Amino acid sequence: MVKIIKLSDKNIIILGIESSCDDTSASVLINGAIKSNIVANQEVHQKFGGVVPELASRAHQQNIIPVVDAAIDAANIDKKDISAIAFTRGPGLLGSLIVGTSFSKSLALALDIPLVEVNHMHGHILAHFIKNETNLYPSFPFICMTVSGGHTQLVVVKDYFDMEVIGETIDDAAGEAFDKAAKIMGIPYPGGPLIDKYAKDGDPKKFKFPVSNLKDYNYSFSGLKTSILYFLQKEMAKDSNFIEDNKADICASYQATIIKSLFKKLVKATRDLGIKDVAIAGGVSANSLLRSELKRIGIQENWNTFIPPFEYTTDNAGMIAIAGHHKYLKGEFVGQDVTPNARLVV
Ligand code: KG4
Ligand code: ZN
Repeated sequence: MVKIIKLSDKNIIILGIESSCDDTSASVLINGAIKSNIVANQEVHQKFGGVVPELASRAHQQNIIPVVDAAIDAANIDKKDISAIAFTRGPGLLGSLIVGTSFSKSLALALDIPLVEVNHMHGHILAHFIKNETNLYPSFPFICMTVSGGHTQLVVVKDYFDMEVIGETIDDAAGEAFDKAAKIMGIPYPGGPLIDKYAKDGDPKKFKFPVSNLKDYNYSFSGLKTSILYFLQKEMAKDSNFIEDNKADICASYQATIIKSLFKKLVKATRDLGIKDVAIAGGVSANSLLRSELKRIGIQENWNTFIPPFEYTTDNAGMIAIAGHHKYLKGEFVGQDVTPNARLVV
């Protein structure tokens, strides 16, 4: 549904709502700048070693009103001044998406303002266009390596909503590779940030894990996960303290292997396509080695690199609001008949 909005010199105020997985988030964006970005994490999943969909939907239901209220309060705006509501339509867990979608539809109806649907993966990438102090943004076309708990993709971004996935994982996502190895080692969920932390004191060359070698720009991480499982089973059979005594070196070696395979395909893609603007996005882009390697390899390859601030790497509504802002400018709205799509593609 396209509705023509008269863009006077009024501020564009977007309320973004994100509920695709286990974070309930709301953000207020004014003219492309973040005024508030509230994220409620769901600790309930920790003891299960992964997200339990049924519990996630229930927690979203509890959190959504306080989180939206907090975002509006922190931005110091009146609900009546909001120009549009942007929400995550997918991909994600259906029960979680339903909470954010239904809430957004109801609030848009109550406030009589337009509703904008956002693809979560577009949100991760478009987070690079949130107004920042440097005023430096990627130029189209650029390549974004989107690495999260559910996705690992190399995306050629030709325009805000014209994106082509040129490579992706054929099995586990990079974030899953972190989280599953953490689970094997008895590290709580989500394991990615903790592996990153332990790896800082470890030797990345101490243990060898295989780097997948698929053709084109695709990735595979399931072999790596199996290799660490067998490796640790074998070592633990000999010495039951092996994981505890070697935690830092295991984490550093395993992390270095993931990051190495990510860059192998990214470098190939930029060389093949002659693209020099390179960005990373998604939860795993919070990883310290990934961030430092992007800078180091970027200098070698003569790239202009774009690393998102930490608060826009893992799931947050600021990234949904900026995507919503650009759709708002195009007048791309959806009606009350919109439904979430757990398998929405880029
Ligand atoms: O984008 P995100 O918040 O949610 C999805 O859309 O999946 O990404 C979450 C993923 C988890 O797998 C988490 O372990 C990983 O991002 N992650 C990290 C780090 N911080 C978050 N992985 C490695 N190093 C980190 N510092
Ligand atoms: Zn995400």
